[in-house]
Amino acid sequence: MKEDYKEILEILKELLKNSYSPYSKFKVGAIALTKEGKIFKGVNIENASYGLTVCAERVAIFKAVSEGYKDLEKIYIYADKNPCYPCGACLQVMAEFNKDMEIIIFDKDKMIKKKLKNLLTNPYNKLS
Ligand code: THU
Repeated sequence: MKEDYKEILEILKELLKNSYSPYSKFKVGAIALTKEGKIFKGVNIENASYGLTVCAERVAIFKAVSEGYKDLEKIYIYADKNPCYPCGACLQVMAEFNKDMEIIIFDKDKMIKKKLKNLLTNPYNKLS
């Protein structure tokens, strides 16, 4: 997928309709972009048992990985109450697949670009 931020933002805005967030009323959408140029979309999915809630970022990443796409390059995040920085759990999940992941957070119609490395300096890594 060509990096057309306007188009990505449109997809994210549409995606927010699928957010299942009756408890927080905070809608989040995320798009994981793979090195092949494929996109995987996710929204936050809450539960009456609050702790079972899964963030949009992890839904998008798990969808990609479960479809056989582990080389994740970027993740785009959009929330109805901007901006939404990814939580620590999601940063750790990103680090599992690409320590150089780029994180693009939409803030209204602006973008905040971050490197995973700068948001999570020392991810837990059992394999090294
Ligand atoms: N949430 C996400 O989906 N992504 C984040 O990066 C932070 C928080 C969701 C979880 C929950 O459904 C709602 O936002 C409020 O915390």
